[in-house]
Amino acid sequence: MKSCAAIFIKNKLLLIVWLLLPAFYVLGCNRAEPERKKNREKIDYIKPIPGKNDSIPAKVAEKGESLISYADCYTCHKEDQRSVGPAFKDIAKRYPVNKVYIEMLAQKVIVGGSRSWGYAVMDPHPKLSLDDAKSMVTYILSLKK
Ligand code: HEC
Repeated sequence: MKSCAAIFIKNKLLLIVWLLLPAFYVLGCNRAEPERKKNREKIDYIKPIPGKNDSIPAKVAEKGESLISYADCYTCHKEDQRSVGPAFKDIAKRYPVNKVYIEMLAQKVIVGGSRSWGYAVMDPHPKLSLDDAKSMVTYILSLKK
């Protein structure tokens, strides 16, 4: 009789363990999931472009930084957080630092536009000279880490 009861209890314990296992599994997965999803979204949003990085002249980057602080850029951009426009650090993560991309991005700052990062629109900056726009972009790309 005694052994019968023992088997009964053992079976019940086993049953409980079997029922709890999937619950632990699901709980564990749920905890890991949002972090993974966030990272994937971040990479899909940044879409890094492979390419050669030239060295950045410190003088040009410094000039760009002060030009940006006197312009309207910070009404839509933050250094490391997405705002109306992409974070400057995200822009730096996408583009290689070289003549081609600096020229292309400087033109974009002057002309304005959308769709590279979403549907928000960057206002045109027609009064900006190409040289100043290039300095600004050089500063932005210098935030690459
Ligand atoms: C009215 C808001 C606004 C202002 C002001 C603004 N930007 Fe932007 N900027 C945006 C938006 C929105 C985008 C994303 C455009 C896109 O998705 O194509 C952007 C994108 C950019 C990009 C990346 C372009 C690309 O094609 O990847 C650079 C570089 C940039 N801005 C620099 C500047 C600089 C420098 C200034 C100041 C002279 C400035 N922005 C002012 C809203 C703004």
